[in-house]
Amino acid sequence: MRKQKISFELSVFDSLKELSQEEQKLMAAAVEARKDAYAPYSRFQVGAALLLGNGTIVIGNNQENASYPSGLCAERVALFQAGAKYPNIVIRSIAISATSENYEVEKPVAPCGNCRQSISEYEVKQKKPIELLMMGESGEVLKCSSVADILPLAFNNSFLE
Ligand code: THU
Repeated sequence: MRKQKISFELSVFDSLKELSQEEQKLMAAAVEARKDAYAPYSRFQVGAALLLGNGTIVIGNNQENASYPSGLCAERVALFQAGAKYPNIVIRSIAISATSENYEVEKPVAPCGNCRQSISEYEVKQKKPIELLMMGESGEVLKCSSVADILPLAFNNSFLE
């Protein structure tokens, strides 16, 4: 038996102002997108914005359903929209921001497990990592350079060959 340690590096920014102009613009798009979330059940609005290799920004927000599992997270709404509309253009990064009608979202929000798996699929598809920027309503921003960092031992197409 041998033990293996898996670790990754995360950048922590005290505020949006510490990010590059391009990153600030992307996070601003995520903040704007969360305003149009359809979240009457959780009252938790999430916005996601993807930056594509051609400079295009594709947004998504959570779309809920009275039959709860039929709803979809902001990240996957954005990803699937990009996959449908720009199938051959690389996704460089994804910014995520969330707010709630019930409390102040002070901590950065990280994508759920299903969304990590979906982001991972696009990393595999494009053979390039997707950078993640994560924020609550405002304040601290976390950055990691690939979803593989936050989804170690991921299941992917290599098991299906
Ligand atoms: N949600 C997202 O859109 N993204 C996440 O990363 C976490 C959760 C949504 C799903 C649901 O509409 C609401 O937030 C509460 O879980």
